[in-house]
Amino acid sequence: MKRRDFIKFMAATMTATVISSELLASCTTENGRKRLVFFFTGTGNSLYAAKQFSDNPISIPQALKSDNLVFDADEIGIVYPVYAHTPPNIVRDFLDKATLNAPYKFAIATFGNRKCNSVEIIDHVAKKAGVKFDYITTINMVDNFLVGFDMDEQIKLDKHEDEQLAQAVADVNEQKHWHQPFTEEERQVHIQRFGDNYDARMTTNSSGAFKIDRDLCVGCGFCTKVCPHKNYKFTSQGITTDGKCEMCLSCVHNCPQKAIKLSMPEVNPNARYRHPRISINEIVRANRQ
Ligand SMILES: Cc1cc2nc3c(=O)[nH]c(=O)nc-3n(C[C@H](O)[C@H](O)[C@H](O)COP(=O)(O)O)c2cc1C
Repeated sequence: MKRRDFIKFMAATMTATVISSELLASCTTENGRKRLVFFFTGTGNSLYAAKQFSDNPISIPQALKSDNLVFDADEIGIVYPVYAHTPPNIVRDFLDKATLNAPYKFAIATFGNRKCNSVEIIDHVAKKAGVKFDYITTINMVDNFLVGFDMDEQIKLDKHEDEQLAQAVADVNEQKHWHQPFTEEERQVHIQRFGDNYDARMTTNSSGAFKIDRDLCVGCGFCTKVCPHKNYKFTSQGITTDGKCEMCLSCVHNCPQKAIKLSMPEVNPNARYRHPRISINEIVRANRQ
């Protein structure tokens, strides 16, 4: 089988099982507590992190399809990537729409290079949505922002993610009440770059953000399955993209042909990333609409 046919075959046989029972999946911790963990991911870092806290983390894009967003547990957590030190819009939507009933709540923000006051920002956003996190920390992982980083270089760096995650899991297991500290300098770096309105949302449209190289595209359709907003479609002109975009870069990083590029210059357009212990099927299950 030729490479092109193999990629098409793989795409066709992949099933995205989005089942409502997944929404009810929780894990029982070693302390016998019922824990629900919600996550959003573009390239797997946040899913990998979420899996350290729960065997059955729940995808936020899938959860948002449900009519019933009232969740009850002993512990509820969210895990997400920071974008410009802030939570993605889809995470803000989830916090706005969901009712999280739990005596202990935690937030884990994954980041790549500069966290600034991400902890303060998620605390602010969550409180406005009526959620008070008892524990908030950040986890430094591979930075997937292609405008700033070469993935081939990023993956060589040992950021000690498993040590950081082990500490956070131990903290949550003992229901530690703690918000990771940050400096005034970190806060000012954020404010100088992005302003002090933590409620401001990034607005991006995928048609402007990405370019599809039709010579490289083999029509495997992975982009149509990993986009949490279903922005990619098969048309008579080939794959096209349009719609409200999280900028999670799942489409770009998970294209097996590297046929999707950012419109902005990339540090290394040939380098792509997905967390080494997360499969593309897991990203599809998390994000497919
Ligand atoms: C649009 C965008 C903006 C980002 N902004 C930041 C940032 O401000 N600071 C940072 O350290 N990492 C930033 N990152 C890197 C991600 O937060 C980081 O790689 C994260 O772990 C990716 O998680 P995921 O694999 O679950 O998508 C950004 C990534 C993207 C795509």
